[in-house]
Amino acid sequence: MDEIRTILKNSMEEVFGSFEGANVYFAPGRVNLIGEHIDYNGGHVFPCALTIGTYAAVRKNGTGTMRLYSANFPQNGIGSFAINALDERQKRWTDYPKGVLWALSRHGFTLPADGGLDVVYYGNIPNGSGLSSSASIEVLTAKYLSDLFGFDLDGVYVARLCKESENLFNGVNCGIMDQFAIAMGAKDKAIFLDTATLDYTYVPFVLSNAKIVIACSNKKRGLADSEYNKRRGECEAALAALNTVRPLKALCDLTPEQFEEISGVLTDPVLLKRARHAVTENDRTLRAVEALNAGDLTQFGELMKASHDSLRYDFEVTGPELDALYDAACAVDGVIGSRMTGAGFGGCTVSLVREDAVDTFVQSVGEAYRKAIGYDASFYVVSVGDGPQNI
Ligand code: GLA
Repeated sequence: MDEIRTILKNSMEEVFGSFEGANVYFAPGRVNLIGEHIDYNGGHVFPCALTIGTYAAVRKNGTGTMRLYSANFPQNGIGSFAINALDERQKRWTDYPKGVLWALSRHGFTLPADGGLDVVYYGNIPNGSGLSSSASIEVLTAKYLSDLFGFDLDGVYVARLCKESENLFNGVNCGIMDQFAIAMGAKDKAIFLDTATLDYTYVPFVLSNAKIVIACSNKKRGLADSEYNKRRGECEAALAALNTVRPLKALCDLTPEQFEEISGVLTDPVLLKRARHAVTENDRTLRAVEALNAGDLTQFGELMKASHDSLRYDFEVTGPELDALYDAACAVDGVIGSRMTGAGFGGCTVSLVREDAVDTFVQSVGEAYRKAIGYDASFYVVSVGDGPQNI
């Protein structure tokens, strides 16, 4: 932490003249353990917040302008905008914080005319890795604004608001999982969230003799947004077809058995596969949480692998890079479970690895990946941490 505080302090002094009176905030990144691509199908998800994330040093500047700087991308310089002119996107990373201000103002939370801030952001989430760096920036922004201007927003409200800013301001049609996992994160706990109702419970996620290892494919996720929206569209089309034989609010309202009974109506094989993934993934998530509560980590790991297979063959969001990481992981003795995590099409896998097998894992998955894909993957042993905070 001292190192990060130094980065923030130095940047703040260099770019905005002084660190005097600055407040430092943190919001985590997240990893989803199981329940993928079902937060927009009314399903259950099981993510957790990480101890890595995004930091911000924040200070009121007494003007009507927000001035934002990223210590990760100094070449981009300062991004600024007036706090009373929030409608336009600027097509740069500052659209994430700006979107939060925009969403806040839609909800009646406005800043005073001289409420401008100087902010330095710094993140230690690997770039574009699928560990939700954008949701982390959003929740971080909502947190410091709420604190500094007395909005007193609770975590669930922050999650909804940040999702709204991502959907409506930034045009990314995501579900609520990422923002919820980050805004509601708790140390050593995973969040069992019903995305249809936002009911949630915290489930202890403390592994004795095992570690959570993230393997990052380092693949640029060029098509991610358009493919993501395409999957959403396919799920909606499948739901509409199923609705002709049984009234349903969402695909995940069906058990696998109920789905089998009516799936004949899905004559398009692609829609059949997409819907089958959603229904079975929801079921796997319910069973995984049950297994964990019963202390059966082996079963939890098997369900993670089944989740990857379903995302690979039915939902088709893995691709050669994530499959190479997954296949290599499954071949390592001591791997309890492994799967892609997040939207897919690049990004990361998450694996539960016996402590004494972590070094072998990194070495042998790393070698296999380089051989199959031609460049290196990166590995991170991560811990489950708390939600946003003033530090
Ligand atoms: C992205 C989205 C989430 C969720 C996942 C897939 O991370 O932001 O809402 O849909 O993909 O599970």
